[in-house]
Amino acid sequence: MTKRIYIKTFGCQMNDYDSERMYRIMEREGWRRVPKADEADVIIINTCSVRDKAEHKAVSEVGAMKRVKRKNSKCITVLAGCVAQQHGEKLLKRAPNLDLVLGTHALSKLPELIQECLDGKRLAQTDWDYDHLFEGSGYPNVNPDGRLSWKGSLASGFISIVHGCDMRCSYCIVPTVRGREISRPMGDILSEARHLADSGIKEITLLGQIVNRYGRDLKLPSAFHELLVEVLKIKAIKKLSFASSHPNYITPDIIKLIGHEARLAAHVHLPVQSGSDRILKSMRRGYTIRKYIETVVRLREARPGLSISSDLIVGYPGESEEDFQGTCDLIKELEFDSLFAFKYSVRPGTPAQNMEETVSPEEKAARLKIIHEISAPIILRKNKALVGKTLEVIVHGFHERDGKYFGRSSCNRVVHFSADNMQIGDTVLAVIDTGLANSLLGSIVTT
Ligand code: SAH
Ligand code: SF4
Ligand code: F3S
Repeated sequence: MTKRIYIKTFGCQMNDYDSERMYRIMEREGWRRVPKADEADVIIINTCSVRDKAEHKAVSEVGAMKRVKRKNSKCITVLAGCVAQQHGEKLLKRAPNLDLVLGTHALSKLPELIQECLDGKRLAQTDWDYDHLFEGSGYPNVNPDGRLSWKGSLASGFISIVHGCDMRCSYCIVPTVRGREISRPMGDILSEARHLADSGIKEITLLGQIVNRYGRDLKLPSAFHELLVEVLKIKAIKKLSFASSHPNYITPDIIKLIGHEARLAAHVHLPVQSGSDRILKSMRRGYTIRKYIETVVRLREARPGLSISSDLIVGYPGESEEDFQGTCDLIKELEFDSLFAFKYSVRPGTPAQNMEETVSPEEKAARLKIIHEISAPIILRKNKALVGKTLEVIVHGFHERDGKYFGRSSCNRVVHFSADNMQIGDTVLAVIDTGLANSLLGSIVTT
């Protein structure tokens, strides 16, 4: 038979990374990736369950894949990732066209499970398997056409460094679906970073639910700082980022490094979740607003021009008008450079599951709208404030549409500019001409 595989990915960057791992694992067994589900013999839907809507999207995608089976009756459909871990075997009953439910700890078993499906079985594998969590990862491939296989830019790559989460924030399903927090051995991460650099990658983002807790499960509280220092020794890496960070684990060492190392991104993603101490306490986030603000101030003092992005939730159970006002005030005070705001969505098995919902769906939508109305002008103003400044930009690609190249600055802005004959991965200096809502326009500085 032909061995063609297609993966559709939902959710966070960790899922993008896992999809890439699954491709690598299968390619080693002779499978070849194809760009469309219709052309595949195995379709994997890698899912997210962080909010109700994400979960529904995943399940309806399985239904949508029936059409492929109608054309190619031997096609194997796999549901992988967080929804798979959450519902397990039940999904096989709910979706008759589904062949395999692959939990978050089962990636390395994919080839043998696919073989069993090809032999006619329908299976669910959702056991916790901490011993083989990183097995079979291999390294990202350079495809036959010489291009790296990452989703997005060929100039940048991700490395997952911590799996799972030990935090148990009250609203969050991630610990339930990803399991305990496990740090990858530093040597493995460094080999992967070197491999990426050798393949032409210029930007690396280290990933973890709380990336700066790296090493704490191994009782090595300064391991994250050490890892940053070690990755920065790879000189071909021009920019190093990490996400997501938690204020309680931003140590003075890390702040110092951000201040001194120009190749560490001038950007930190630091989710705050709420601007009310009462709500933060109920969420079990482990910090107060004061502590959060102090962390942001120290980071910004250490590195002028540092951008801070954040996540927050509106309509958490018990969130009063006053609590919500606290969140609005915090946005005004800290002026986030970008912001991701979500309506609270109750998740099964979470500590907040049985808390009474007090904010109606309409009110949640109204609060979300207010957050956007406050943050959008701030973000635009901050982008406009960069006009006239010169930023170092790593070239990510070219848009046929407007005939412009685009790239990312150290402070995580997308910059569009005109130029002749750029290579992806080149570093250029661009003077900013225009600040837009979500990006900048610039002109190359010729030296
Ligand atoms: N580990 C990261 C967050 C990962 S989930 C951290 O703690 O920083 C990404 C974002 O989804 C969270 O920051 C939060 O804002 C949002 N989120 C998580 N659970 C949610 C829920 N039940 N309802 C709405 N938003 C949620
Ligand atoms: Fe979820 Fe909290 Fe862990 Fe982030 S730190 S993944 S919000 S439990
Ligand atoms: Fe979603 Fe799982 Fe990531 S729940 S946010 S894909 S860890």
